[in-house]
Amino acid sequence: MNKNEAIGIFDSGIGGVTVLKEILKILPNENYIYYSDSRNNPYGDKSDKQINELCEYIVKLFIKQKCKAIVIACNTASAKSAQYLREKYTNIPFIAIEPAYKMVYDYAYSEPTLVMATKGTIESEKFNFLYHTYDNHKTILFPCIGLADVIEEGNKEKIRKYLKEHLETYRGNVKNVVLGCTHYPLIQEEIQEVLGQVTFFNGAPYLAKHLKEILIENDLINNQDKEGIIQFIDSSNDEQKKKRFFEIIKE
Ligand code: DGL
Repeated sequence: MNKNEAIGIFDSGIGGVTVLKEILKILPNENYIYYSDSRNNPYGDKSDKQINELCEYIVKLFIKQKCKAIVIACNTASAKSAQYLREKYTNIPFIAIEPAYKMVYDYAYSEPTLVMATKGTIESEKFNFLYHTYDNHKTILFPCIGLADVIEEGNKEKIRKYLKEHLETYRGNVKNVVLGCTHYPLIQEEIQEVLGQVTFFNGAPYLAKHLKEILIENDLINNQDKEGIIQFIDSSNDEQKKKRFFEIIKE
């Protein structure tokens, strides 16, 4: 594996850009290939077998492009497929995200907590293990069915309507919000409007740190002294998504 090769990063859509942004803060000189699988989103309602197949297709593409590491910037895909991919593709490191529920245990154990994630993540064995290990007994698990889709669409009015309908009942009752889907950091302001003052927990900064450690361990850090290149691929060739993706990167 070569230091100059790109890091592959993927999600069911552009939500994983929130992960890439955290990575860019500490690894700006790496090259990246971002794969947005909008043709197959949402991932949140799909079976384990379907997610494994979709992830495998993307992983093969990254391997063909000679990527040196793969970031699964999707909680659903991480929960359902990370282990399968690691066992099958042993020559490339996989870095997976998970809902930052342990962080609540470490820093805000006594506070009522709302975990927002896809149905797939909440029902997954991996998340259930995490949840039962760090349960603070004041936690509501909320499967946000359809929310990633609405965010993907980018219509602020629809986003506000969704949140009002589904989350208003928790206003004043929760202090911590775990953003358990990589799309949700894009709507922190809107969540705050509905829930009031809350503290957000996002796994992306930890993933970024972990990725850097893995690259150092494997002597794979790109030493170029200029910013890397970011290539964007969308499985449905949606130009609008590409535009939004780069706008969010620049924000
Ligand atoms: N962004 C993905 C996640 O983190 C899922 C969105 C979807 O349902 O496609 O879980």
